[in-house]
Amino acid sequence: MKKMLSSSRPFVLVIALASSLTIAPFVSSEPLPTLPESPVRLSSNENAFGYTPKAKEAMIKFLDSGSFYNRNDVSDLIAVCAKKEGVPNNYILTTAGSGPLLMMTALAYAEPGVNVVTTEMGYTQLTRKFEARGGDVKYAALSEDMGYDFDTLRAEIDENTKIVYICNPNNPTGVLADPIELKKFVMSVPSDILVFVDEAYLELAEASFAINTCALLAKSRDNVIVTRTFSKGYGLAGFRIGYAIAHPKILAKISDFYMGPPSYIAAIAAQEALKDKEFLAENIGKYQSVRKYVCEEFDKIGIEYAKPEGAFIYFRSGINQELLQETMLENGIRISGSRESGVAKGSYDDWARVSIGTRPQMDQFLSLMTALMAKS
Ligand SMILES: Cc1ncc(COP(=O)(O)O)c(C=O)c1O
Repeated sequence: MKKMLSSSRPFVLVIALASSLTIAPFVSSEPLPTLPESPVRLSSNENAFGYTPKAKEAMIKFLDSGSFYNRNDVSDLIAVCAKKEGVPNNYILTTAGSGPLLMMTALAYAEPGVNVVTTEMGYTQLTRKFEARGGDVKYAALSEDMGYDFDTLRAEIDENTKIVYICNPNNPTGVLADPIELKKFVMSVPSDILVFVDEAYLELAEASFAINTCALLAKSRDNVIVTRTFSKGYGLAGFRIGYAIAHPKILAKISDFYMGPPSYIAAIAAQEALKDKEFLAENIGKYQSVRKYVCEEFDKIGIEYAKPEGAFIYFRSGINQELLQETMLENGIRISGSRESGVAKGSYDDWARVSIGTRPQMDQFLSLMTALMAKS
């Protein structure tokens, strides 16, 4: 991590800056998904580079059959995913995005007196639902570089632990776990505790997908579940499709809370997206090069950040995150704030998260950030 920045700048100054700064509206030279141009959406980790035109063609062909349920035909996609992951078909469960899998798991395992163990400042879709059902959440501190500290995580496990939730790369920090440490940890968790590895952003990491995924552990152990989504690297967020890889007995347990299959149109899109490896590689390349560019610009203007391996960068501007979000929004850019799950209120107040968008979108964000940093 680079040197820490002062966080004691007067907020009043930032408010004054908000009213004095105006950045020219974003004009894209690249084809973009159809969305309103303002605010620029750098808050939800959506894929600004779009999805494969082959998925669009396939979906258009299907439109005339839209009055039929096609309930069972998601089995085509299940077979493709099973082949990709090297598991039997009954190890795959598809849902409308991977979010439902996180929530179904919480619902299936939570009850008063039991807990889920995770890191502070992690993704909260599973933990919030777990708490809503009366369970507890135990948070382990992050390492110095905002990554996983598996000894600390292990120390939080007790006789009431039902799930250990790991998001890799993590959201919002973006840090990727060391694959050997991660796998050693997963194998060390007692077999009556479920290890949930959320790999929503793994396609976008610089490091090898094959080496970092825990999918093979989901095949060889009956207490591991890995989830994937087509929302991020594949750019299909709006169609809602994702899947889990796990032993059928885990899938049966969480399926008590299954609310029905994903839309068939989303399944068609996902199949095409999986086939179009060239498009995926290009899309990942765009993510990685824009992410690297933003980090280099952050270095120049003295902004500290956690090592990003996902669709976003977690950074410390030294400016209160709510004020920074407001200032950005007033200038046509939506970013996300810091996360406080498991940490003392206000302890990451001057951190925020920006999603990776197109290069012109990031330039718009960076010019505002540079102006704010120079004047604050
Ligand atoms: C870490 C992580 N997991 C899962 C999800 C769920 O996404 P989806 O339901 O679109 O698959 C998200 C969404 O942002 C996420 O950040």
